[in-house]
Parts: sequence; C-alpha cells; structure tokens
Amino acid sequence: MSMLISYLLILLTGLVYHYSSAGPDTLPTELSLEAWLARQHVTSFKTIMNNINPPGTSRGFFAASLSTYKPDYFYTWTRDAALVSRVITSLPETNLTILTDYVDFQIRTQVTPTVCNCLGEPKFNTDGTGYTSPWGRPQNDGPAERAIAFMKIADRWYLEGHDQAYITNILVPAITKDLNYIKDVWQQPCYDLWEEIDGIHFYTLMVMRRALLDAVDFFNAHSDTPFRTDSYKSTAYQIEKRIELFWSSHLNYITSTQDVRNGVQKASGLDVSTLLAANLVSERNDGFFTPGSDKILATAHALENAFKSIYPLNQQLDERLGTSIGRYPEDVYDGVGISLGNPWFIATAAYTELYYLAIKEWKQVGVVINGINRSFFHRLLGNSAPNFFQQNTSYYAPGSLELEHLIYKATLSADKYLATIQYHQARNGSISEQFDRYIGYMAGARDLTWSHAAFLTAAKAKSTKRPIF
Ligand SMILES: *[C@@H]1O[C@H](CO)[C@@H](O)[C@H](O)[C@H]1NC(C)=O
Ligand SMILES: *[C@@H]1O[C@H](CO)[C@@H](O)[C@H](O)[C@H]1NC(C)=O
Ligand SMILES: *[C@@H]1O[C@H](CO)[C@@H](O)[C@H](O)[C@H]1NC(C)=O
Ligand SMILES: *[C@@H]1O[C@H](CO)[C@@H](O)[C@H](O)[C@H]1NC(C)=O
Repeated sequence: MSMLISYLLILLTGLVYHYSSAGPDTLPTELSLEAWLARQHVTSFKTIMNNINPPGTSRGFFAASLSTYKPDYFYTWTRDAALVSRVITSLPETNLTILTDYVDFQIRTQVTPTVCNCLGEPKFNTDGTGYTSPWGRPQNDGPAERAIAFMKIADRWYLEGHDQAYITNILVPAITKDLNYIKDVWQQPCYDLWEEIDGIHFYTLMVMRRALLDAVDFFNAHSDTPFRTDSYKSTAYQIEKRIELFWSSHLNYITSTQDVRNGVQKASGLDVSTLLAANLVSERNDGFFTPGSDKILATAHALENAFKSIYPLNQQLDERLGTSIGRYPEDVYDGVGISLGNPWFIATAAYTELYYLAIKEWKQVGVVINGINRSFFHRLLGNSAPNFFQQNTSYYAPGSLELEHLIYKATLSADKYLATIQYHQARNGSISEQFDRYIGYMAGARDLTWSHAAFLTAAKAKSTKRPIF
C-alpha cells in the first residue's frame, strides 16, 4: 500500500470513528470518567513497563516510544526517562529492580563518551552508547531531572528498609555529578526541552533550581553523607533571580526563552513548558512559580486563549470537553515532519494537573485575585460570580463559600481536560504523542512513554488530597 493511500485510510478511519459514533449530544466514551481513570491507570502503567527494557536493549533502557520509523523514537532521552522514572517511583506497583536498572544505565551514560562530551547529551542508543548524528545539544534540563529522579529513588530505597550503602556509594556520587554540572552551566545557553531553540529557558532553570533545593534537603536528611550544601543553596538563589526576569508585565505572561542564539523563532514567547515546569516544582510547595501562583495562572490563561483560536478542534467544542492544548502556538512539528503543529497529550494533561495542584494551594492559603490573575479567574467563573470582580484586589479565605465555589468550578474545568484525553486516545487505552488539530485522531509516536506518565501524574493530582493546615 502506498504511503498516501495508507495515510488517507488513517484519516478516513479517524473521521468515521469520530463522526459516526459521536452525535452532537453523545461522546463516544462508554466509560464514566471515574471508571476510565481506573482502567487507564492500569493500561498506562502496563504500557510504560512495555516500553522499558524492550527486547534487544540494555537493561535500564527506557524507550521514548517503541516507534522505530516515522518517527524513530527508539532511543532513551535523559529527560523522558527521568520524568517517567520519577512518576513510577511513586507507584507501589513499580518493581524496585526497574528503578535500579534505570540508575545503572544512566550512570553508564554519565561516563560514556558523547558528541557533547558533557552531561547535557540528550539521547542515547539502545545499548547505552551516545547518539552521534547532529542534534540540538546540549540539553541541560536532563541532568537536573535525573538528579530529581535519583533522589526520589533513594527515598524509596531507604523507606523500603534497604541498605544505606547503595545510596552513599552509588546514588550520591551520580547525583553530585549532575548537580555540579548544573552549578557550572546554568548561565550558559542550551537547547530547550523541545530540542529546537538554543537559549536560556524558564523550564530548564526551574528544574535546575528544584534539583538544587531538593539536594539541600536530601543531603541534610541523609546525615551519613556529610556534604556542604551551601553552594547549592546560593546557586538556587541566583537562578531564582534569573527566573524572575521571564515575567513580562507588558504581555502579562511568562515568556519561555531569552538570549536565543539559534533555532525556531517564537513570536509569542508562550509555551506549555512554563506550565510543565510549574507542575514539576509543585512538590516543593514554596509558592515560587507554583501552579496556583498568579503569574503561572496568567500564563495558563494566555496559552489556552492562543490554542482556542489556533486549533479547529477547539471551535464549537462540546461543553464536556476541555480545550486541546499544544506545545506552543507557532509549532509546526506534526509528529513525523514539518507541516502544522497539533495538540499534545502531555500538554493537555498538564492543564488537569495544574488546576488540581492549584486547588491544593488555594485550600491552604486562599485566593487573592488581582490584576495579574483576574483574567484566569474570569474564564473559570464566567458569569457565575460577578461579585468576585467588583474590587481590583479581592481575598477569598480558606473555607469561605466563595472559595468553595471557585474550587468547584476549577474541578469541573480540570476534569474536562481529562475528558479530552479520554475522547481522543485510542479505545484500547493507547496514547500517542499528539492528536490531529482538525479531527482529533492520534498522531506522532505511538504510545509515547511520557504521554502515559503525564496521564498518571494528572490523575494523581486529582486523587491526592494534601492535608489542609
Ligand atoms: C522484580 O524484578 C526482578 C527482576 O526482573 C524479579 O526477579 C523479581 O521477582 C521482581 N519482584 C517482584 C516483587 O515482582
Ligand atoms: C493573584 O496575584 C496576587 C498578586 O501577585 C497574589 O498575591 C495572589 O496570590 C494571586 N492569587 C492567586 C490565586 O494566585
Ligand atoms: C481599579 O483598577 C482600575 C484600572 O486598573 C483603576 O483605574 C482604578 O482606579 C482601580 N480602582 C481602585 C479602587 O483601586
Ligand atoms: C492498541 O491497539 C494498537 C493497534 O492494534 C496496538 O498497536 C496497541 O499496542 C494497543 N494498545 C494497548 C494499550 O493495548
């Protein structure tokens, strides 16, 4: 079958699927959201496990996807592997051996000669050797994400009562290597998480800051690994000052990249990576660009507005679905080549996660609505609470009726993004990288490991109830 015919067939199947079973009043999802979440959790976990150590690869190899052709994602990216292992480390059903294999594989890549010859080498072959063709390198978020993952694995190792020696002798030296690298390079431009722009990135700095601060706590907790953490603390502080510069009071959102040396030009500066960063640091719960903070919410609002107008899929949207979200408005990567960008599952899942993590913050400290974040709340509340907006600045205390109402509305919105994922994924639970901007049919790498991990963290944010103090 020629490529063109099979492409047309795929398109047609998508159309038939979506239009035959989806009348104007029914979504073709046979399961309620709750039932689907439970089933998808199992499927996503199974699929992630299937993408780890596939036949013919070195132990500890986390494939980005099993897709080897159009696109070829059969590599391990330091970033993807770290983000995925961070997620599965918190799941009790994950066998610890999977994680220690991951650690072994990564430690070997730390000392493998690569083109970059640095810890920011982005991707590795199935046998652990470095990828040698031209690529956007270095990508310095990778070592930070890996250090965060390693510290999580250490905590779990310790909690399960295993020997401290593994932490001291294996994990600590590897973590230290990554952190020292971050200390050296954080001011230098590098490629972003989408591997397209050489510059200084909000996302990259945010994960670096978190890695350094996590390390301060980590080394203090493991007292038999005496360590001077002052330099981590002071570097994190310097990084904070740099991160603040990404806020544009003129645009009223955070721009994703500065000091661009090379790569894609993005006129808007809007990028969902800003929200991915907020979700990723939320566990620190320190209010520094966390999901519930005003500048992150303002950015979420601006980004959603952009995607609403860009993707035909978002026009006349069924009221039970949330906006389909992509990486950034100017995106032209369609999952295989260059044409027009599509919504991504990880980006859409990020909104669910962001809302639920924000709700947790609001329950603790209440909500202040001001000039920066008013537009976000206006979208959320619509006409339902006009008295929210009478003053320029309003405070809604934890436990107040107004706050309960706001949280209720945010919950409804958060679940709609999940419904969007449920609607556009395959009926058997597969989740690719993207879905088509016109008809919603899955596009790009099949069963992207990161897509499944993003679903799991979004669902976890929904289910976890952090204690209110
Ligand atoms: C974990 O994986 C290892 C290696 O594959 C296996 O030997 C062990 O039985 C597994 N443990 C559990 C509890 O499944
Ligand atoms: C709204 O912005 C103000 C001013 O920056 C901030 O103090 C407040 O926490 C923000 N509210 C929320 C819910 O983020
Ligand atoms: C509220 O904001 C508007 C526009 O930003 C300003 O003109 C007005 O003076 C403010 N009102 C109060 C009571 O601060
Ligand atoms: C769903 O079906 C597709 C096509 O048959 C298959 O490639 C994929 O592995 C299946 N996914 C799951 C999670 O079973």
